Amino acid sequence: MSCLPLKRFKSRRMTLPPESDSARDTTVSSATDHDRSWYIKPMFDFWQSLLAALERIIMLPSLIHSVFTSLPSRKRTRDAVRTYDRTMDDLLREVQRLLEGPLEPAQLMHMSGRLQEQFTPKLQASDICMLPSYNDKLPTGLECGTFLALDVGGSTFRVAVVELTGKQPGAKSMRIVTMKSYKIDNSVRYLRGTAFFDWMAEKIETAIADPQVKKINGSKNFPMGLAWSFPVEQTSIRSGNLLAMGKGFRATEGTLGQDLSELIMAPCRKRNLPVHMDSIINDSSATLLSRAYEDPSTRFAVILGTGFNIAVHLPVSALATTKYKGYPQKWLDEASHVLVNTELSMFGKNVFPTTRWDEQLNETHVRPDFQPFEHMISGRYLGEVVRLIIVEAVRTAGLFSGEMPEKLSELYSLDTGTLAAMEMDESKTLTNATALFQSKHPLSKPPSYNDIQFIRQVSQLVSHRAAAFLAAGIHSLWNLRTTSEGLTPATAGRLAIGCNGSVIEKYPLFRELCQSHLDELTIASGAEPKSISLEVAVESAIFGAAVAVCCLES
Ligand code: BGC
Repeated sequence: MSCLPLKRFKSRRMTLPPESDSARDTTVSSATDHDRSWYIKPMFDFWQSLLAALERIIMLPSLIHSVFTSLPSRKRTRDAVRTYDRTMDDLLREVQRLLEGPLEPAQLMHMSGRLQEQFTPKLQASDICMLPSYNDKLPTGLECGTFLALDVGGSTFRVAVVELTGKQPGAKSMRIVTMKSYKIDNSVRYLRGTAFFDWMAEKIETAIADPQVKKINGSKNFPMGLAWSFPVEQTSIRSGNLLAMGKGFRATEGTLGQDLSELIMAPCRKRNLPVHMDSIINDSSATLLSRAYEDPSTRFAVILGTGFNIAVHLPVSALATTKYKGYPQKWLDEASHVLVNTELSMFGKNVFPTTRWDEQLNETHVRPDFQPFEHMISGRYLGEVVRLIIVEAVRTAGLFSGEMPEKLSELYSLDTGTLAAMEMDESKTLTNATALFQSKHPLSKPPSYNDIQFIRQVSQLVSHRAAAFLAAGIHSLWNLRTTSEGLTPATAGRLAIGCNGSVIEKYPLFRELCQSHLDELTIASGAEPKSISLEVAVESAIFGAAVAVCCLES
């Protein structure tokens, strides 16, 4: 992986107008025509606010009269012309300084070290993170079978029949034979306690009623694996206690601490469904298993979509013995390694520098400080951070000539997917980005090129920061693994990281940027170049749920 994406990103700094005149001269000489719009923008802003003020005077004479009659005439004129506190360029410069400032390698390295300090007590004792599973070995890639795989994500519940055929020349080793997807909207998310698991059983019933599924399984009971995108305290390979769920779910009300397998199986039995729960696993661990099935060098998995997590395959001794309370003696005697659900989203408080927008996000969150790392990098929050900056820009710097777009003052109304699509429009005119924004958040007149370019620049800065912080997080866990394996960065060798989730898979340049920062950090630590590679693991939660069951049988 070349450092090109990072270089491209770093060169973006030059597209902003510098504050001093002398600096402006140097930058202008290297700017392209396209970039130059930024330098003439303050002039545009001035004329725009003047026009906007005149427009208001013409359109609302009575209002102007009633507001202004009480003001002295000089102040009246000044207020009408100088509507905003600062220019959009000034604000953009500040956003850039705050978001990009902390991304130098030395600072990211420092964050990685601080994260590692936070890991130490949690590896000794914690009921909510650094959670060991009962999965000790990684798959060989030769395991075979057909399974019912369940994937409960933040916004969908998927039920699939998955076929694993092992390594066969020229053929895919994993296949989704059939899959049904059920949307989890707020009406489902807010189902309390057992009502949520009844809903799951109802959907499983519908999915397996499909004639194709019936034909595959005949009259046998389906072996079933579950990928769960929430923390779970494993009590065996096929069971685990329900822990507090983020992402706005209420299923733990009255069921917290109960056995997840039983919560799902009880309504399935009531419906006489021919299924039995064979494996429960966090979605990050499922991703690791599924990627390891295809690439034996896989040791980590990153999930980064609505939520965020990392799973890692560690020596058993990396966690305190108290973390294995209740594990069978046979397991403790035989296992050398263990698949750990780090719940990395919960780390990072006082590690990552925050801005006023991060603080606003945290203050209005239903569970402030619960998942600080997730707040800075996951798909649920990238759009929200950008929205908060836009709202400030409308109010204080005259973005959209000061008009607040529809719905944009509502929390979480700006979708990260919209920003990703806007970033993808690299045309000179930004026609698609403009049309998309206008369709999602209508304004009385379409946003200008400069307005849309401002949003694109802000989202590039927010997503770049997320990619760099993710690299720091991966680096800290890589250090943990390296030392607990008794290795050094130079001897750690090459390893692969399975990556799944909309942000890491699809957000423009995200994975490339993260990879570039990771390369910088690992090389600075003394590792060989390209010792870690981020590999996309498509549909890995659903495949991993099946691989987990398959590993039991081999
Ligand atoms: C949850 C994790 C999950 C991750 C990705 C986080 O919010 O706490 O358990 O793995 O999202 O889905």
